[in-house]
Amino acid sequence: MNKIIYLDAAASALKSKSVIDAERDFIENSYANTGRGVCARAAAADAMLYSARKSVADFIGTDACNVIFTSGTTDAMNRIVNIVCGSRDVGVVAVSDIDHHSARMPWENVVRLGRAKMVKIPLTEKYDLDYENMPFADVMVITAMSNVLGVPQDVKKIIAAARAKNANVITIVDAAQYVAHAQINVREWGCDFMCFSGHKIGANTGVGVMYIKDPDSYSPDKFGGGMVQTISGDDWNIDVSPNKFEAGTLPLTQIAGLPIAIREWSAWSGGADIVSYIYDELTKMPRIKLLTNRDAKIISFVISDMHILDFGALIGANDVCVRVGNMCASWVHSLMGIDGSVRISVGPWNTMDEARAVVDIIKGILK
Ligand SMILES: Cc1ncc(COP(=O)(O)O)c(C=O)c1O
Repeated sequence: MNKIIYLDAAASALKSKSVIDAERDFIENSYANTGRGVCARAAAADAMLYSARKSVADFIGTDACNVIFTSGTTDAMNRIVNIVCGSRDVGVVAVSDIDHHSARMPWENVVRLGRAKMVKIPLTEKYDLDYENMPFADVMVITAMSNVLGVPQDVKKIIAAARAKNANVITIVDAAQYVAHAQINVREWGCDFMCFSGHKIGANTGVGVMYIKDPDSYSPDKFGGGMVQTISGDDWNIDVSPNKFEAGTLPLTQIAGLPIAIREWSAWSGGADIVSYIYDELTKMPRIKLLTNRDAKIISFVISDMHILDFGALIGANDVCVRVGNMCASWVHSLMGIDGSVRISVGPWNTMDEARAVVDIIKGILK
């Protein structure tokens, strides 16, 4: 038995035996490239890909042609910049201080190149996106749940408010953390793009999802094998979505595990009992300053008179994995006047016994 207590699901989730088995089964029994062969193996791999894409589409409330496989959220966020603007100017891009570096930096780079102006979506006192005071924007990046604060945002309302300011705004939702704790429904949200990483919900690293509402309205950002329909000499026609946006070989093994991860993660209750137990115990420790609310999906805190890295090392020496640092979310930490924090996040593998053990360990460290 693994005696490590892993409380870092928000960084990356542990993998269940069923996900590992699904990947192994694909490798051992159906492995071949997709969209390229006519043999039985190729047909099995194509069937796996078709069915995985359908599972993802059902999971996020869309059709298979709107689901593009990527290598993760960061990859998707960077690709979206190229898909949306290529090398043209984009006007005003709205970002926010609860963004992860991966959501905002690709657009900050466009600003640095002089091709966009950046504005901020204001935050409320509780650091939620303030949809009552939306700025005008041509492109808007919406963090559906901060990886530091753990509060799912009202994405539907935020998008409606953004569209009230500019009916043509292109909305991009970073659902990397939201996907682990709340139901995505891109049709209901009305967003133009949405992305998440498989590894945050128990699939393997190397696979992510990029949703595109109107794939026919955009040109592909990558060219190569698998995305052409016909080719004759130097003339070619681009295929329709999803092939249009999936040049090259996909991370097929990781894709094979994704539907299993989605199914298992969707059946998980969310661990609210564990989170609220730890939270309540932390409120009794005078040296802990909590940054999150009791009903948030994760717990973030700092400690008086102890550096977070020292705390991380001490709790790590007790075989407990938590995250310490700026979490690639330096802007929200700056707003709070700190460099970083400690984050506890749970997954389907965590138990109340582990929660009790961790509370005792923290008490021991702080006594
Ligand atoms: C809110 C948020 N966005 C984006 C990312 C980037 O995800 P990935 O590293 O899987 O590309 C993360 C990862 O922690 C995240 O928490």
